[in-house]
Amino acid sequence: MSKTYQTLLFPETRPPAALRDSTSSTFQENLSLPVHRWFRFSAGFSAPWVETVILEQDDRPVQVLDPFAGSGTTILAAESVEVAGVGIEAHPFLFRVAKAKVERTDDIDKYANLVKHVIQRATAIRTQTDHYPDLIQRCYPRDVLEDLDRLRRSVEECREESGEWNLIWLTLVGILRIVSPVGTAQWQYVLPKKQKKLPRSPFHAFSSLAQTITKDLHSLKPVSSNSQCRILQGDARVCENLPDNWATLVVTSPPYPNNYDYADATRLEMSFFGEVRGWGDLQEAVRKHLVRSCAQHVPESRVSLDEVLESEFLEPIRTEISHVCHELARIRLTKGGRKTYHLMVACYFHDLAQVWAALRRVCKSPSTACFVIGDSAPYGVYVPVMEWLGRLAVASGFRDYRFEKTRDRNVKWKNRKHRVPLCEGRLWVHG
Ligand SMILES: C[S@@+](CC[C@H](N)C(=O)[O-])C[C@H]1O[C@@H](n2cnc3c(N)ncnc32)[C@H](O)[C@@H]1O
Repeated sequence: MSKTYQTLLFPETRPPAALRDSTSSTFQENLSLPVHRWFRFSAGFSAPWVETVILEQDDRPVQVLDPFAGSGTTILAAESVEVAGVGIEAHPFLFRVAKAKVERTDDIDKYANLVKHVIQRATAIRTQTDHYPDLIQRCYPRDVLEDLDRLRRSVEECREESGEWNLIWLTLVGILRIVSPVGTAQWQYVLPKKQKKLPRSPFHAFSSLAQTITKDLHSLKPVSSNSQCRILQGDARVCENLPDNWATLVVTSPPYPNNYDYADATRLEMSFFGEVRGWGDLQEAVRKHLVRSCAQHVPESRVSLDEVLESEFLEPIRTEISHVCHELARIRLTKGGRKTYHLMVACYFHDLAQVWAALRRVCKSPSTACFVIGDSAPYGVYVPVMEWLGRLAVASGFRDYRFEKTRDRNVKWKNRKHRVPLCEGRLWVHG
């Protein structure tokens, strides 16, 4: 395959994003791209950059794996440059988002007719909004919530197992933040006190996103012409349902050990659809499936630091990680919040060591893995994330690792909880 940057999903020719520093770790570029723009995922990374990484592989055929698929960026990029791709995502809601995008429909007329039907039917539906949880009541004025409720009931009435219906569902998901007048832009947080200017009405926003989706579908090659790309609901620590020696390239971005809570990130959407009632339901519905990268995931009552540190998975970094975790255990006692960062750090590397072991099984020898990752400093204690992940990769059977920094973080001191300089970049693992 020639190394062209003129690709299927991203029609205009552009210089390789890999050459432009700092872009690989943000979703910003994707917001103007077909398919990617259907759902804004601020924890996502750049699709054009993933394409360049795939195209730069010399050994063919390339078979791409993303064990932390998120909104499906890597797999859409694989589709775009016509190589096989499998994404694994453990978050049940994000899995459905990625699947709706990657395994979308070729029957554009059926999707367009369903959109019309849903809107027509919705206008006649008697609405009932009292049952929505408090978060939803605070995020939408009554008239907006009534329209959203009509659309939701109408979408649910025509539910079926099909790519078209999955896209209808995604169309509704995609407008939920757009039509809220409160601050929902910061993906993880909903800020009911922060007002946005003139959000669009739900019916208008739904039609408008449906038009964008229809336009994008027309601009793409039929998805059935490339059935080698798919999204699986599963656990990166196991990579179940993937055969041994399958992947030649891994392009991924795991959660960082920085307390970002992926379960909380979709609380608005999952609350709207009745999948959780509140924050308390997130552990059972979402968090228990994920690698442990936030303190909420590791309450003291459930995790024994000594047991985790004694695990064979942590053997390659045991001395250093024990030191950091014990330091965090000491510092937390001096803090009001007493966050369990000591447990989070231990569990995070334990889980990521399992990921490397699973990747060693499903990757060919040799193969390449690229992790977009950043370091962290909970309570100001530095955690050398890239170095430890690299060492765990080598201990699981890969040959070597190298870190390519793309940007500094935490260099503007104002309002920061600590002053430890951090960075972000790509951890390349070979072998
Ligand atoms: C940084 S995001 C990936 C974003 C993705 N690169 C994109 O562009 O959309 C990390 C993802 O890993 C997922 N995740 C966390 N633990 C997981 C696990 N054990 N197995 C699979 N996915 C997991 C999270 O739900 C989240 O979607």
